[in-house]
Amino acid sequence: MNVRFEPAGPLRGQLTAPPDKSISHRAALLAAMHDEPVRVENYLDAADTRSTLDALRSLGALVEQRPDGLVVRGSGLREAREGHDPIDVGNAGTLMRLLPGWLAAQAGRTYTLDGDASIRRRPIDRVADPLRLMGAQVDATRERYPPFVVRGARLRSIAYELPVASAQVKSCVLLAGLVASGVTTVTEPAPSRDHTERILRAAAVPVHRNGRHVTVTNTDELELETVRVPGDSSSAAFPITAALLVARSKIVVGDLGANWTRTGYLRILERMGGVLVGELEEPTGDDIPPVEPVTELDVRASPLAGTVVEADEVPLAIDELPLVALVGCFAEGETVVHGAQELRVKESDRIAGVVEGLSGLGARIEATEDGFAVTGTGGLRGGRLDARGDHRLAMVGAVAGLASREGVEVVGMEAAEVSYPGFAEDLRTLL
Ligand code: S3P
Repeated sequence: MNVRFEPAGPLRGQLTAPPDKSISHRAALLAAMHDEPVRVENYLDAADTRSTLDALRSLGALVEQRPDGLVVRGSGLREAREGHDPIDVGNAGTLMRLLPGWLAAQAGRTYTLDGDASIRRRPIDRVADPLRLMGAQVDATRERYPPFVVRGARLRSIAYELPVASAQVKSCVLLAGLVASGVTTVTEPAPSRDHTERILRAAAVPVHRNGRHVTVTNTDELELETVRVPGDSSSAAFPITAALLVARSKIVVGDLGANWTRTGYLRILERMGGVLVGELEEPTGDDIPPVEPVTELDVRASPLAGTVVEADEVPLAIDELPLVALVGCFAEGETVVHGAQELRVKESDRIAGVVEGLSGLGARIEATEDGFAVTGTGGLRGGRLDARGDHRLAMVGAVAGLASREGVEVVGMEAAEVSYPGFAEDLRTLL
């Protein structure tokens, strides 16, 4: 589906951020691991998170949609049912990397996981390696791509040093650690989103942080009754960016997740001169809060200056880096992102996608080995941008169109359904 986004007048009004995708996946997964019913409020209804519910149903969970939220009746930590058909994760990388942590602990049972064409290009050796060390058997296509088979075992705990700062891999090992013998430790090269640690704490699991090390002790049961999913700062980043770039805009975004491990992009924007007013969480150090904070954010169109994003900021803004490239086109001077080679293995190669996509709209942008460099020209001509089946690139194209001189036609706009089905509608209400 091709959709044109014309240059827009100011964005004005109030928006509620759509429910968080990362936290929705985790809430449903933890609920299915529990043997008591768990209510999940504000669960994201999008393609990725529907894949999670389908997967959990195939593993034996009952999921009921009620007006006040989902009710998940799970099977317990050690009782995921073995199905006949492969589990289809669709486009959901988070599901593909978190779920094996639980499945690996199902001694004597075997599961096959597969997904769409994008999933079949995404490596799973990063989760297969630690799970093999814990005693599970994982067999993948060409050693590292889906479809792949997980044979569960009685797991032993490990101390695992993550080769990349990835919340998905950290989460997979922590989930496996719930059912492994003893204490499992994951060491991160740099902080990444900590939603798994927080929801485990909320479920009364012994999980602790000591600097770069996170430990979890095995447990027999979870204590979780209700989880509320806050608004998604990565999805809200698209209307927030549109409001910063389109002259005279002024919007308020409510129910915005303010967890400091997710707000790196907002800090980058502030550094570039963006006027954003709201209370974001400060880094929590070794403390793992059992809650996800939310805020209301006021955003105004602002003149912006280029910036340099260093490697340690990357995991805290990973999904918003394509937007940094777009904002860089409108900023004065150069904007450079370092240490972001992970972007090459997202839903698409996001370095190639954003560099080629924005170049086609008139941007002065170049790919580097581990990121990109943009020279701001104060604006963007417009044209056509191919989303390459990637939800975030589709929404970058849409925002580019609103802020451009000639408008942008996005090829494959339907990809936005993966994380933000109400995206076009939300923009319309602000225009
Ligand atoms: C996610 C973590 C990030 C992010 C992805 C969601 C998560 O991936 O890009 O969209 O929910 O844990 P990595 O942990 O692989 O960097």
